[in-house]
Amino acid sequence: MKKKILVTGGIGYIGSHTVVELQNAGYEVVIVDDLSNSTIEVLDGIEKITGIRPPFVKLDLKDKEGVGRLFEAHAGINGIIHFAASKAVGESVQQPLKYYRNNIVTLLNLLDLMPSNGVQGIVFSSSCTVYGQPDILPVTEEAPIKPALSPYGNTKQINEEIIRDTLHAGAPFKSIILRYFNPIGAHPSAEIGELPNGVPQNLIPYLTQTAIGIRKELSVFGDDYNTPDGSCIRDYINVVDLAKAHVVAIDRMLGSKSGENLEIFNLGTGNGVSVLELIHGFEKATGVKVPHKIVGRREGDIEKVWANPEHANKVLGWTAKESLEDTLASAWKWQLKLRERGIQ
Ligand code: NAD
Ligand code: WQD
Repeated sequence: MKKKILVTGGIGYIGSHTVVELQNAGYEVVIVDDLSNSTIEVLDGIEKITGIRPPFVKLDLKDKEGVGRLFEAHAGINGIIHFAASKAVGESVQQPLKYYRNNIVTLLNLLDLMPSNGVQGIVFSSSCTVYGQPDILPVTEEAPIKPALSPYGNTKQINEEIIRDTLHAGAPFKSIILRYFNPIGAHPSAEIGELPNGVPQNLIPYLTQTAIGIRKELSVFGDDYNTPDGSCIRDYINVVDLAKAHVVAIDRMLGSKSGENLEIFNLGTGNGVSVLELIHGFEKATGVKVPHKIVGRREGDIEKVWANPEHANKVLGWTAKESLEDTLASAWKWQLKLRERGIQ
């Protein structure tokens, strides 16, 4: 019998790509999302790619009674992948309570109700933001957690601690915490991708919107960092590669292979790429110029961070495969599709 996975935030950017890969791998998926940062048309994209329209429940996961009803209506859920969260770093500084409430209460409700509903495990979306500026690069899972630079980042640290404490207290399920580096790109079909709300804060959506003429020019935040070209370095990971890592994490968590009840994995490529390299890489991959100018540093930015993904490579048997060039081309194809649809 197919195993049933509840994907919270499954209409969102990473969630929708993961639903596609789960369905392709033979899992039965139930999506729950309140559509606070996504639109229901994403379900059509998932159906077009996989031929399956998964059941969708519109629910705010802060509503604990609603979550209880969800588990009753969809009995037999084996595992959860918990993507649902608010994720805008700048907004979290302006509205910390919104972030603490949404990102923490949703997790508490799920953890509370998992045992009575027989759910065997939860995969949690964490972030490389928990490492701050690491002292040693590439960064491993053993690197110390640094004080968070934003309420958003703090919610990820607190959520990791909540999961750790809950399992330590003997909760009857397992968990895998996945620390994503910088997810970018879109499904190669361009049926699903990233849908930023308003003016994008993240590099790739701002870059593709500039390339297509929605924005005049891209600001490069600083060229005076201690890096080879002076701009910041990140580990940009293709979103489909990232989605596939969730499938192997679910296989492992629900299979008998893993003895540990809590495991943590970095999900990155292991390659650091600077902002200027990324712009030039995009121009090379697409043949489209990106007007850009150097401006001052953005407050709170980390100078350089990239993953040591060996733990995920060895233990999960997962490696990021897509080239940066193909990934940037997929982001561009998605931006062109958005224009075709009259969205952006
Ligand atoms: P996203 O905003 O596209 O997706 C999140 C989804 O959760 C949205 O569809 C939103 O409507 C839904 N949601 C939010 N609050 C909810 C609630 N209370 N009840 C039900 N649904 C709710 O974000 P994403 O980029 O796909 O990120 C997914 C997860 O990965 C988040 O937890 C995010 O913090 C984490 N993450 C993202 C990145 C990144 O750069 N995108 C990096 C590291 C970690
Ligand atoms: C990447 C690089 C910028 C925009 C954030 C969150 C982090 C994680 C991912 C979830 C940086 C530079 C950007 C622009 C630029 N999310 N940049 N001009 O800052 O690495 O991480 O998203 O957990 O928590 O903090 O990603 O895409 O914003 O920036 O020069 O217009 O691009 O300075 O070096 P970041 P980003």
